[in-house]
Amino acid sequence: MRFPGGVVYTKEWVVELMLDEAGYTNDRNLSRLRILEPACGCGAFVVPIVRRLCNSLKSSKQTADSLKDCIHAMDIDESSVAICRDEVSKILLFNGFSYEDAQYLTTSWIKAGDSLLESDGGYDVVIGNPPYVRSEDVPADLRRVYMEMLKTVTMGTDLFVGFIENGLRRMSPNGKLCFICADRWMQNKYGGKLRGFISESYGMELICRMHDVDVFESEVSAYPAITLIGAKGSSKCKYVVCSDGFGPEDVDDFKKAVSGLVVSSGSFSIADIWIGGTDPWLLSDPGRLRLLEEIRSRFPSIEESGVKIGIGVATGRDDVFITTDPNLVESECMIPLIKKEDIEDGCTPEQAVHWLVNPWDEEGRLIDLAGYPKAREYLESHRDSLEKRHVVKKDRSKWYRTIDKVNPSLKSKPKLLMQDMSRYPDPFFDDGSYYPSHNMYWITSDTWDLKVLGGVLLSNQMEFFIDAIGVKMRGNTMRCQAQYLRMLHVPHPKELTEADSEEFKSAFEKRDRDMATTCMQRILNKEVTMDAGGNETGFVEVV
Ligand SMILES: C[S@@+](CC[C@H](N)C(=O)[O-])C[C@H]1O[C@@H](n2cnc3c(N)ncnc32)[C@H](O)[C@@H]1O
Repeated sequence: MRFPGGVVYTKEWVVELMLDEAGYTNDRNLSRLRILEPACGCGAFVVPIVRRLCNSLKSSKQTADSLKDCIHAMDIDESSVAICRDEVSKILLFNGFSYEDAQYLTTSWIKAGDSLLESDGGYDVVIGNPPYVRSEDVPADLRRVYMEMLKTVTMGTDLFVGFIENGLRRMSPNGKLCFICADRWMQNKYGGKLRGFISESYGMELICRMHDVDVFESEVSAYPAITLIGAKGSSKCKYVVCSDGFGPEDVDDFKKAVSGLVVSSGSFSIADIWIGGTDPWLLSDPGRLRLLEEIRSRFPSIEESGVKIGIGVATGRDDVFITTDPNLVESECMIPLIKKEDIEDGCTPEQAVHWLVNPWDEEGRLIDLAGYPKAREYLESHRDSLEKRHVVKKDRSKWYRTIDKVNPSLKSKPKLLMQDMSRYPDPFFDDGSYYPSHNMYWITSDTWDLKVLGGVLLSNQMEFFIDAIGVKMRGNTMRCQAQYLRMLHVPHPKELTEADSEEFKSAFEKRDRDMATTCMQRILNKEVTMDAGGNETGFVEVV
């Protein structure tokens, strides 16, 4: 088989596994089913589909005409369609079809075209490996058409999101959609609409994460998962995480596990999960899921516990606005700034390393440069490059603004600072000396002693949580962005005893993750007791 550039082909054993899970199996009369492969390439799925169809026909002779609607495959690339037709034709000839019938069926079944513009429905199975193309790389006119037809497609989505929606819309009421594609939509921002669309009208039946498994013919960094979606039913879904050694020899055990016959194997783990809604879905090592569900159901969200979360200032030209010279311009326009790289040995620096040339006044208005001659001279010397920034395109008079406004009250507030892309949530305390830069997230609170909260965030349970709702990068770095931090659930500070608070604080000050984890576990093992009037009376240990 030939592999044109830019596309990724699925290995045969993966295709066979997916066809089995989607119920396209030889024990059924496949001539009665209609199957759709919307991005067929050279036929990685279509070839086994036709083989299965021919096998299921063995006992009953059917005319080519009666089979012409059994398969619908499409690809936008005509040369791939030609290869796919050739491959399918060989199988049909091998199975006793005449040359004319083989020609007739291949041209009826496999077409060149854009699947996202098709809307014919009634397919019992929709299957495939949709393309990996970012929507912003699609020509603007076409993207507009997709966005009009498909409500889950936005500027930021990958096109496979549109393929999932399109496939589901074309599926028959009791059909199954089985795709292998990146699973990031289940948790990231752009997947929110798709999560909502699926949760409203369909049911997730299987997610099989194969991030490190060799599933494609070429090596790609695509975070693939097999996703099986059916009719709306219970929100219980089988969740399987395959280890990197998972291969064709594990398929039998996998199938037994999915049908509930065995529960674990060395090469994968499996759990039942309940997912739905537009919020990022909790997906984690199945062993951890119970713990996380418990944290989510017992504790309020971090914001409900009295916390504000945000990101530091983006300037659009750090080389101009951020400096190491505290006397660069008038002192009123210089703010000590903290960047991720300034944190050393777990501490914020005693003396500022970086400074922000701040063009905003205390009321959040741009300063009048006439009143600040040094700032004016400095910024004017960079005017050309500052004017090229997108943020000033609309209003050129604000050419010296930073992308974000500087929030005057944040400057002097005590806060926890978190860096994006760290090995685990690693909060740092700032007593109000610094303004955070855009690679830092900040947390402020009027209800929490921030060092106690810092201890809570340092615990392994919070790491598991961020890991489960966020996106872990290769090399195990996790994203601690505001969107994920906001989804954390933590005990309410009022729920902590003085001893718990002291222990979290001490764990935070010593940066002792084990201590924080033990303390958190103790809290999880405790349940509040109430009297008949609903007043808290104390705690009992939960065994
Ligand atoms: C990831 S490849 C998968 C090919 C094959 N299904 C497989 O698994 O080996 C995706 C295919 O989608 C095709 N494609 C891209 N955009 C498409 C569109 N709008 N409609 C139909 N096919 C499209 C590409 O040409 C490519 O062959």
